[in-house]
Amino acid sequence: MKDKHKTLPVMDEAEERKIVADLRPKRFQEYIGQRQIVETLQIAVQAAKQRGDVLDHVLFYGPPGLGKTTMAHIIANELEMPLTHTSGPALEKGGDLVSILTHLGYGSVLFIDEIHRLPKIVEEFLYSAMEDFAVDIIFDKGMNARSYRAKLEPFTLVGATTRAGLLSSPLRERFGIQRSLDFYTSEQLQMVISRSAAILEVGIDDDASYAIALRSRGTPRIANQMLRRVRDYAQVRAGGRITLGVSIEALALEGIDALGLTPLDVRFLNVIIDFYKGGPVGVEAIAATLQEETDTLIDVVEPYLLKAGLLIRTSSGRRATELSYNHLKKKGFRKASGQLELLAE
Ligand code: ADE
Repeated sequence: MKDKHKTLPVMDEAEERKIVADLRPKRFQEYIGQRQIVETLQIAVQAAKQRGDVLDHVLFYGPPGLGKTTMAHIIANELEMPLTHTSGPALEKGGDLVSILTHLGYGSVLFIDEIHRLPKIVEEFLYSAMEDFAVDIIFDKGMNARSYRAKLEPFTLVGATTRAGLLSSPLRERFGIQRSLDFYTSEQLQMVISRSAAILEVGIDDDASYAIALRSRGTPRIANQMLRRVRDYAQVRAGGRITLGVSIEALALEGIDALGLTPLDVRFLNVIIDFYKGGPVGVEAIAATLQEETDTLIDVVEPYLLKAGLLIRTSSGRRATELSYNHLKKKGFRKASGQLELLAE
């Protein structure tokens, strides 16, 4: 269990050294995008600090790579409190959680990533921990069962999930602050890329950072991953500076297309178009054809395709859009109304 949960001090020497390589913002002020979330959190953190109170529990939801973990770390940094990082699947037994909770100091932050994957038995310990800062520990069974209420130091739970809909209402309701992270605009991603290039000390042209931004699927984590690949390519093949030509060549070599679609995105759309005549088709059928996990498709692949207008979800299943057909150079797009007429025949 030891290695699964990390308690980080406010900032130690090792972390200070890592900072150069670490592109994540450490403070609200450095954070690009999600303005409304940043501003409301800044107010909540400052108010709690002024009162000497513990910050309310915070829940972040949204697709992977949009900054949920980064936000949790920023909150702890701004509160000047240590953060303990764990995840739903890492907490297998009630005892795993209780031993973390009983070691938290006043006002510290507990971050649970993938909180929707917390086992039910562990989740039930969280209810009283969040509400009353106490846990009920039960000894023995049946007639001899006795319970002991252990007091905890007040703390802030920060939870992150890709799908808020998978959280039970008792758990969701205990978060005083709930925020949904949205995809970034290309302009915001360009700013993230320029900031990261400066940290990595690599020169980059504006049209190059924009080209990378356009291929980053609205996601800063992907933008930074692509920047690192393009930087490698520029260093080895092109004298170091990232120009437009260098970034397009490097990303094409990585198999990233002009809209930033990955090979899995393209396979996903191809299955709908080629196997299921453009849809509608259920996600389970697509997953079975692709031999991928349904959850991966729902959490990782679909959100951006929906956002980009390449996919629509209807009550009868997923459909590829005209944009999708055009992008993949496919013929035979049928409008939904055309399909109904066809079915009625
Ligand atoms: N790096 C990754 N995400 C970022 C963000 N939102 N702002 C600044 N830098 C980032």
